[in-house]
Amino acid sequence: MSSVSRLACVDRLKNQVALVTGASSGIGRGIALALADEGAQIVVNYIGDRQAAEEVAREIQSKGTDALVLEADVSREDHVESMFARTVREFGTVDILINNAGVQRDAAVHEMTLQEWQQVIDVNLTGAFLCSREAVREFRRRGLVPERSIAVGKIIFISSVHQVIPWSGHCNYAASKGGLMQLMKSLAQEVARDRIRVNAIAPGAVRTDINRESWEDPAALEALLKLIPSNRIGEPRDIGSAAVWLASDESDYVHGATIFVDGGMTLYPGFASGG
Ligand code: BGC
Repeated sequence: MSSVSRLACVDRLKNQVALVTGASSGIGRGIALALADEGAQIVVNYIGDRQAAEEVAREIQSKGTDALVLEADVSREDHVESMFARTVREFGTVDILINNAGVQRDAAVHEMTLQEWQQVIDVNLTGAFLCSREAVREFRRRGLVPERSIAVGKIIFISSVHQVIPWSGHCNYAASKGGLMQLMKSLAQEVARDRIRVNAIAPGAVRTDINRESWEDPAALEALLKLIPSNRIGEPRDIGSAAVWLASDESDYVHGATIFVDGGMTLYPGFASGG
């Protein structure tokens, strides 16, 4: 177990259905497990590694709640539509959407292929749009169920510190996350009157496969820690607990906000002793 210990389970999301994209590993898995600890039923979306997704589902079920494993490429309109249709058939509705699926395809601009650019925009940005659109449609169709939540639905975007920190060698990724920020805010403005709550979490460096090369090697980790005032790398649970709070009615007055869960990475740590 990491240094981040589990808070007491109080079933803050009981009887709610949460669809988590990219839930078979990393931050998505951490969020799926944290929401399940609070009693939510979870749709474990994945692409490719069915075994990993099924393991996450088993862990969720061992907590006494339901899980449904659904493969879908979030950048494909037909996949997203059938994933939501299936979710509604199995669970009756969706209450919480976590737009987590994301990829990195790093390259210097002069070497970046159109495919590397496009894939990152397609998954990180278009995927979040397609899933949000289906969620909004379903929230509106179902309407308010006050026993479950005082919101009609909740959408949480998993962005990145790179929605504000430029990142050389990662133009496609940083552009996708900057775009996600405006997608989140514009959508929040658009659906506020429908009592649909829309927010984002911007993680810093969290220990997952996406950034393995930055933490596995001790010299790389030392360089990374210079960018993190809290002096530790994040764990998926750090993001999970923020997601639980944002999905619960405890944060009902939080709307259109980004919570940075980054150990202070966005504090310009280089300025701690300079400027
Ligand atoms: C990226 C990671 C990176 C972190 C901090 C995340 O959005 O996916 O690779 O370590 O930002 O730079």
